[in-house]
Amino acid sequence: MPAFLNNKYLPLDECFLSPLDRGFLFGDAVYEVIAVYDKVPFEIDKHLDRLARSLDCSNIPNPYERDEWISILNRLIKDEPADSFGVYLHVSRGIANRDLVVAEELQPVAFAMTMPYTKPAPDKAINTMTLSDPRWQRCDIKTTSLVANVLVRRTARQHGCDDAIMIRDNAVTESASANVFVVSKGVLHTPPESEYILSGITRGVIIEIANQHDIAVEQHTFDADFLYQADEIWLTSSTKEIVAVGQVDGHTIGDGATYPLRAQFKAW
Ligand code: PDD
Repeated sequence: MPAFLNNKYLPLDECFLSPLDRGFLFGDAVYEVIAVYDKVPFEIDKHLDRLARSLDCSNIPNPYERDEWISILNRLIKDEPADSFGVYLHVSRGIANRDLVVAEELQPVAFAMTMPYTKPAPDKAINTMTLSDPRWQRCDIKTTSLVANVLVRRTARQHGCDDAIMIRDNAVTESASANVFVVSKGVLHTPPESEYILSGITRGVIIEIANQHDIAVEQHTFDADFLYQADEIWLTSSTKEIVAVGQVDGHTIGDGATYPLRAQFKAW
């Protein structure tokens, strides 16, 4: 798989990094996952905007200008044999002795790779459970510190579910790696942007498409009961696109078999 590390293009299995890299030691790094369709990266500007924001919020200098990021991506996309896949971008604060605070300004380490993935089966609805959101207060930063997300997904799997929908202070936030939408009486509902959710690029695209087709979108907080009564629930992300939720905490969502608004969105 083609990859990029320390300003060099090389195969993934030839990428080596110091164990003193702060991404490795502290999860002191941010990342992006971008879908590529027929060799074209989807919403690249929005992903690079979000990367710049995550870096800024983490006080890590952005190692590249936008056109440099785009040429790194284009080179990896060209070298990847598949036509549709994902690209992973990652920037760590850099390499230094193990100390929480480093005196000197470090040279950030940028890493990127193509990431073939299997798309979820188009008509499969997933089984979910709700779990208390164990994450920190800055879930709007796309950090590589994902232990809490890993534990949430593992707990869901241990309970025989595909994923968990997290709840903080009685309000639904998101799943372990996707935003949440509820369809209720023809209206789309989704938690508002805040420091408790990632502002998903897919989420933004869905809101834009809804606006173009005069489908009302309400961004507000809601609880687990609202999920149980939904006509449809979707989990959305760059790799999942729109996945229908068939069950939450044993409650069947909608008629348990069809997700008409999702089918309509997939067609758009
Ligand atoms: N995850 N919320 C969380 C916690 C996420 O990790 C993601 C994406 C999203 C959706 O964001 P977007 O639509 O921009 O992909 C929401 C990526 C795909 C990942 O970590 O692999």
